[in-house]
Amino acid sequence: MSDWIKVGKLSDIPRQGSRIINSDEGDIALFRTIDDEVFALRDECPHEKGPLSQGIIHGKNVTCPLHSWVISLEDGCALPPDEGCATHFPVKLEDKNVFLKY
Ligand code: FES
Repeated sequence: MSDWIKVGKLSDIPRQGSRIINSDEGDIALFRTIDDEVFALRDECPHEKGPLSQGIIHGKNVTCPLHSWVISLEDGCALPPDEGCATHFPVKLEDKNVFLKY
């Protein structure tokens, strides 16, 4: 895992929305909650690789657009009764700039 990389500004991500970062390891989805927290997960649902970036964000969770599993943005894991985790990545905000480690 590399050092912190600046990937944009908080305002680049819509509230309760997402933005995709293309990395060598595949697409990473940045999610912004209604409280302006930012989380990063690989843009693949642990179920059948649905695009989590197109899901609905509620609280600190995202509901997958394909079969409605609910995935925690904090650790990338599905809420019970479903099982499995999407890779999650460390994110930090500094002066409204978003930094990611991947
Ligand atoms: S692919 Fe996400 S719930 Fe099925």
